[in-house]
Amino acid sequence: MAIREVLKMGDPRLLAVADPVDAAGTPELERLLTDMHDTMRHLNGAGLAAPQIGVGLRVVIFGFEQNPRYPAAEDVPFTVLINPKLTPLGEGLVDGWEGCLSVPGMRGLVPRYRQLRYTGIGADGAAIDRIVGDFHARVVQHEVDHLDGILYPRRIRDLTQFGFNDALFPGQVLVDD
Ligand code: NI
Repeated sequence: MAIREVLKMGDPRLLAVADPVDAAGTPELERLLTDMHDTMRHLNGAGLAAPQIGVGLRVVIFGFEQNPRYPAAEDVPFTVLINPKLTPLGEGLVDGWEGCLSVPGMRGLVPRYRQLRYTGIGADGAAIDRIVGDFHARVVQHEVDHLDGILYPRRIRDLTQFGFNDALFPGQVLVDD
């Protein structure tokens, strides 16, 4: 178990485009996934991308179990997604609040496709091909953005809808991704 430091916005490594993974199932990839999982759980995050711990590979993990403290979000199964490709389904963008472990303590209102298909491979190299919507689709878009060096504040259309958690949502406990 290794909890890694999560890079914060301003670190140039978060702006780099990550490289594809050549081979699944290697010991190096297993170690990376273990560290990412431990780090995400430790910080109570909903997702984490490898560049956030300083590893420039196209690897994301995400997953979220229903919790009474976060009543607005539906379950998202724990997923390891390597070399992801996203295909939006429909033109519909919906605004939703996002946070990020690399932008701690803040929230912004971000437009994302409501529904999309994502493909890639899992930790064992098996193909993943899913059609998802709503919060699940949002989390995937947020994480895959990290692989292209994009942090969610760059997606905010109205910067009046960007601020600190305790000012925006007094008394609420929020999850970051
Ligand atoms: Ni993030």
